[in-house]
Amino acid sequence: MDKIAILCSGGDVSGMNPALKRFVEYAYAKNLQPYFVYDGFEGLIDDRIVAASYSDVAGIITRGGTKIRSARSSRFQEESYRKIAAQNLAHHGISKLIVLGGDGSFRGMEKFYRETNITFCGIPSTIDNDIHGTDYCLGVDTALNVIKNAIDQLRDTASSFRRAFVVETMGRNCGYLALVSALTSGSELCLIPEMPMSLDNYTECFQSQIAKGRDYFIAIISEALQSSEETAKWFEKELGFEARITILGHTQRGGNPTVYDRLMAYQFVTHAINALLEGKTDSVICYTKSHFEFKTIDEVALTPHRIDEALLTLAREQFAPLRCQM
Ligand code: F6P
Repeated sequence: MDKIAILCSGGDVSGMNPALKRFVEYAYAKNLQPYFVYDGFEGLIDDRIVAASYSDVAGIITRGGTKIRSARSSRFQEESYRKIAAQNLAHHGISKLIVLGGDGSFRGMEKFYRETNITFCGIPSTIDNDIHGTDYCLGVDTALNVIKNAIDQLRDTASSFRRAFVVETMGRNCGYLALVSALTSGSELCLIPEMPMSLDNYTECFQSQIAKGRDYFIAIISEALQSSEETAKWFEKELGFEARITILGHTQRGGNPTVYDRLMAYQFVTHAINALLEGKTDSVICYTKSHFEFKTIDEVALTPHRIDEALLTLAREQFAPLRCQM
């Protein structure tokens, strides 16, 4: 029986547990012995590699996070440790690996593959949705729903007090979470690195809206800009609105995986196992224009990501101060 392993690396996402369940069940269906690597690349280096069974994945489909834990491994950036990781896999007789991770994890895998020729398939998994070559990364839908619920609740209190609420979303250097959340929650302001805007440009426009009866504001800001404090002060000083800041932080990484993330987990894993059985050696399963397709790890890991231009155009139309409705 051929052996196949799976690991989770970098920031966890809701959808990893459903992926683990599908992995164990589909591996057995394909006559493969499934293995879990605990604690990401750290576990690969320290040989925390354990055979998995149905009982390991029973009941986990409803849970966020990852049962086999994740890690950010600085040791895996060193060639000597990557060598140990490869030896551990060889020692267990494991010839195929699935890696759920984000851009940093894929850059690590690109090096690992070049040095060791380990056969693997990557599954884009990060709430940041910032991996080149795929429109969708596992976990994004659950994170967006967490943000949506938080903003909906903040709206209740914001409207009761005549206040401005500044909501800071995660995303590292990418504004995707903030952009989509702002468009779908009826926010008045969206600040992301891909759409640089100066607050001064909004003063006149927002003053005019207040004069016409706007009672409260919701502003969504990407963590990349580090400007939540500044924005709250601007609301108070320039518009005379008491402001509060809500940093959603790691709540965005948790929660019951949505139906969409469970379905994506199922499909990503199915394609990844099929690819390894068909002899694909160093691919990432991407989801682009509503289709699954494989891209090579060097293309995915080494090309910078850009937010979809059509989405940015919508955001510019909605939030650019020049078009601000007075
Ligand atoms: O990459 C996912 C992410 O949640 C980013 O949005 C965020 O900047 C970062 O991870 C936080 O990392 P950590 O969990 O290590 O604090």
